[in-house]
Amino acid sequence: KRNKNRARKTAVMTIAPYPATRFRRTKSSDARRRLVRQNTLSVDDLIWPVFVREGENAETPVPSMPGVARQTIDRVVKSAEEAARLGIPAICLFPFIETEFKNETCDEAWNPDNLSNRATRAIKAAVPDIAVMTDVALDPYNINGHDGIVRDGIILNDESVEALVKMAVAQADAGADILGPSDMMDGRIGAMRNALEVVGHTDTAILSYAAKYASAFYGPFRDAVGATGLLVGDKKTYQMDPGNSDEALRLVERDLSEGADMVMVKPGMPYLDICRQVKDAFGAPTFAYQVSGEYAMIKAAAQNGWLDEERTMFESLLAFKRAGCDGILTYFAMDVARALKA
Ligand code: PBG
Repeated sequence: KRNKNRARKTAVMTIAPYPATRFRRTKSSDARRRLVRQNTLSVDDLIWPVFVREGENAETPVPSMPGVARQTIDRVVKSAEEAARLGIPAICLFPFIETEFKNETCDEAWNPDNLSNRATRAIKAAVPDIAVMTDVALDPYNINGHDGIVRDGIILNDESVEALVKMAVAQADAGADILGPSDMMDGRIGAMRNALEVVGHTDTAILSYAAKYASAFYGPFRDAVGATGLLVGDKKTYQMDPGNSDEALRLVERDLSEGADMVMVKPGMPYLDICRQVKDAFGAPTFAYQVSGEYAMIKAAAQNGWLDEERTMFESLLAFKRAGCDGILTYFAMDVARALKA
């Protein structure tokens, strides 16, 4: 017996010590993995961006965004009904404006009966429970594709803000719940907030595109809204330089102080560091926009059989939650909502 004990002791001493912590223990079953999971994606996190066009009962596929189409208002209303049924809290409208309505003064932008405002009214009448978010920027209406008024090749800040304020009030009048200024002009949040209060739209929320970068990832979106080919130059004099991060925090601070209720970082996946910094610094409702180019990359790879679409979609969106975001604008919203329900 003594010999046996001695043999065992020797054996114990010759193998490596036990690891103090085995991280594999919490991974060993689905139940344990679910139990310790810190972040999850829910249908409540989704804002679904949709493209609206003129006409009836028709849609035009956007080739650079497989699965996405510009829809006529009647179809957008049906889509909104379906989104609401699936539990998606908000839908975000982007109009495809025919060239005949585009000019240098962009006055179609604040026409109470423009495409976007008609779509808002139609959705709010049919599906009052879904929140309608609208885009406040002049690019769909601008003959030179910029988000602000252009004169002699310069994007004019203060004139643009005046136009954006009129546009914002028209959208709020139409019933928009959340305004999304995506233009990056200085001072527009304060000016808009003030005008909304004055006319009595005290409940209309502003989700400011506060840290919006001059990004190559917007390419497919510009196809979708018909801005490709129109844009003269680039948007680098108002959108952020991708090399900067401190400025993102200053912009968020500025927009919050001017009355933004929520803030956005855009694009999403390449700027997760900014999402995290913004959330940590301000603790404000923080959103990310998984933009058209991010969507297109995943779709293209999936169509080639190079990536598993559903798994990549979920992983890419969960990353935003981990980075501190409260919600995500994503073209995958309906696919996610359906998959979550299944
Ligand atoms: C323009 C606007 C853009 C997007 C949303 N609003 C493009 C741009 O700034 O040129 C991009 C969204 C996407 O790529 O999905 N106001």
